[in-house]
Amino acid sequence: MTMKVFACVVGARPNFMKMAPILRALRAYSQIRPVLIHTGQHYDPQLSDVFFQDLEMPRPDVHLNVGSGTHAQQTARILEKMEEVLLAGTPDGRKFDRVIVVGDVNSTMAAALAAIKLGIPVAHVEAGLRSFDRSMPEEINRIVTDAVADMLFVSEPSGVENLVREGHPEEQIHLVGNVMIDTLLALLPRAREVGTPQRLGLPVGRYAVVTLHRPSNVDHAETLSGLLEVLAEVAAELPVVFPIHPRTRHRIEAFGLGHLLDGQGTGRRRIWALPPLGYLEFLSLTSQAKVVITDSGGLQEESTALGIPCLTVRPNTERPITVTEGTSTLVGSDPHRLRHCLEEVLAGRYKSGRCPDLWDGHAAERIGEILARE
Ligand code: UD1
Repeated sequence: MTMKVFACVVGARPNFMKMAPILRALRAYSQIRPVLIHTGQHYDPQLSDVFFQDLEMPRPDVHLNVGSGTHAQQTARILEKMEEVLLAGTPDGRKFDRVIVVGDVNSTMAAALAAIKLGIPVAHVEAGLRSFDRSMPEEINRIVTDAVADMLFVSEPSGVENLVREGHPEEQIHLVGNVMIDTLLALLPRAREVGTPQRLGLPVGRYAVVTLHRPSNVDHAETLSGLLEVLAEVAAELPVVFPIHPRTRHRIEAFGLGHLLDGQGTGRRRIWALPPLGYLEFLSLTSQAKVVITDSGGLQEESTALGIPCLTVRPNTERPITVTEGTSTLVGSDPHRLRHCLEEVLAGRYKSGRCPDLWDGHAAERIGEILARE
């Protein structure tokens, strides 16, 4: 059997938990050699290294060190450096047979483009998701990546519908389930042992976990201060824990909104502002929460898998199954809607939801089987 070399690309925090089970599944095939490439889009230890440790991922074989920048700068740096790496092949002189990308970050799109321009076929994991909101950078990344990929691994039925409508041949589309939930189910027992709520002195099962980092929510002073005001109100009823993404932290400082977090001068309770947490610490926190309030796509899915109510601070979602079958409700940035849903949760009237089909811990194995057949 001929050996196949697959370049597996990661760049930003949500990529790591998706790639970890794929690498593990590929290692079961002696004819496949995965080469792990980290673009360096995320470089803070708390956004990158800690995930490699928690997920027991191998160190990247190649690191592109691209860092932060505007969309064009970041994309351009990845394009240039990926092209060099793909042209060079492996140190023992093998060429890359395929590039595997996951999710929808700038690294996903840039690596896919670099590959296809060299004639290297692209597999996209988490293909077909659409918010139909082109003001989201991730929507552009999803559309471009899917347009150049010839293997499309899909996590929920809406993704299949979208890809068929966009003209992708059905034999390229594989509904395999959700690789991120593979990681969640595998690590949940270990995460529970970490005891993050206990360490913070939080009442188990009676606190809210908040994450906010979408440019549409955090890049404008008015929107961000409105959201922080609501969170301060929520804190009056339920402790609010807020691990803050660096992007959001920078904005809070630049807009002078720190007082809304510590409650000083507002007569309100403080919000538990924390640095970004590692995978296990964070899963320990979310899995024992009363409610999650977030604008993260991944966390909408994780909450659904955990059966925990998720109030999604967005007007739309590319993951509609988390709303139709799961525990998520789109509340936009409307404080009244958020407060209403929260009351429903606290009164025990919130919907319960179910875990979607194929979110069963074996999605990466299905991907491995299909890639091995190629
Ligand atoms: C990126 C993804 C987003 C994903 C998010 C998860 C894109 C377009 N966005 O957003 O889809 O949900 O990751 O975290 O790819 N920064 C640091 N340290 C780091 C990395 C970034 O401080 O290690 C700061 C820098 O100020 C940087 C800013 O965060 O400019 C934004 O980083 P960037 O990678 O551009 O996008 P994210 O907002 O992290």
